[in-house]
Amino acid sequence: MALLKLSIMLCTMLFSLSLSGAASPKNIFILAGQSNMAGRGGVEKDQSGNLVWDRLVPPECEPQPSILRLNPEREWETAREPLHVGIDINRTAGIGPGMPFAHHLLAKAGPNAGVVGLVPCARGGTLIEQWIKNPSNPNATFYKNFIERIKASDKDGGVVRALFWFQGESDAAMSDTAHRYKDNLKQFFTDIRNDIKPRFLPIILAKIAVYDPFMKHDTHDLAAVRAAQEEVSKELPDILTIDALQLPINFTTNAGFNLDHAHFNTNTEIVVGKWFADTYLSHYGHLL
Ligand SMILES: *[C@@H]1O[C@H](CO)[C@@H](O)[C@H](O)[C@H]1NC(C)=O
Ligand SMILES: *[C@@H]1O[C@H](CO)[C@@H](O)[C@H](O)[C@H]1NC(C)=O
Ligand SMILES: *[C@@H]1O[C@H](CO)[C@@H](O)[C@H](O)[C@H]1NC(C)=O
Repeated sequence: MALLKLSIMLCTMLFSLSLSGAASPKNIFILAGQSNMAGRGGVEKDQSGNLVWDRLVPPECEPQPSILRLNPEREWETAREPLHVGIDINRTAGIGPGMPFAHHLLAKAGPNAGVVGLVPCARGGTLIEQWIKNPSNPNATFYKNFIERIKASDKDGGVVRALFWFQGESDAAMSDTAHRYKDNLKQFFTDIRNDIKPRFLPIILAKIAVYDPFMKHDTHDLAAVRAAQEEVSKELPDILTIDALQLPINFTTNAGFNLDHAHFNTNTEIVVGKWFADTYLSHYGHLL
């Protein structure tokens, strides 16, 4: 009788495991921001003017058993491109920095990296004021969902290791939002860290290279947003930066960009991902 009960229990456990997808990862990384974080590599207009992904997955971005993603239902599954499908809603997602980041981390950190969990959260075309916490509206869904996704990621084990933030192009398209960016970014990072305590959250911040040409941009101010990013990285602890202007891009030849002159192509996104991994490992690799 006891044996029967035990085997029923085991079957139920196995069944629920297979229903809930992959087991939890060991090291968890949060990816957030706007389109160049969500990934537009391989996304171009077709003959009818619709944006379509070319489905080309380079080796640096291929799925493999040690890389998982937290899907929109907040369950772990094998990660595959486009990583932000179902998250970057109503946009055509392509290759981004997440998969090459994870591959590079595994290659460099070896067994310490364990199973890597990616938590895609980026949304194309967003302003920082859509992301920030709004104390007068605790139900504002964007921030709330973001924090809930972070908390869901380690509820069954694993450790949240860092946030990668690549955003500000839309804010840089207008002088008023550009000039509010510093206060907004500083408040946003501070609120996140407070709201996910006691987790330790290093932030790797990408300084942007372009303003969003799809926004009204007669008053654009890229320099103000870049300066804000630099200042916030100095004024708050545990923030590292990478500078997207140092990527292999050329504004004259359009090298490194899609045909829209704004989104990074697949090659550039791979460089971003590897740079994220090197930057994380150089300062926090001992934690893995
Ligand atoms: C996505 O597009 C549909 C149809 O236009 C719209 O109803 C929905 O609100 C959009 N969702 C988001 C999150 O923007
Ligand atoms: C937020 O949502 C909760 C639950 O739906 C509700 O009880 C509360 O009144 C809402 N607060 C505000 C400020 O809208
Ligand atoms: C960009 O390309 C142009 C034309 O080939 C070249 O003259 C220029 O030096 C390049 N700029 C950078 C920053 O590499």
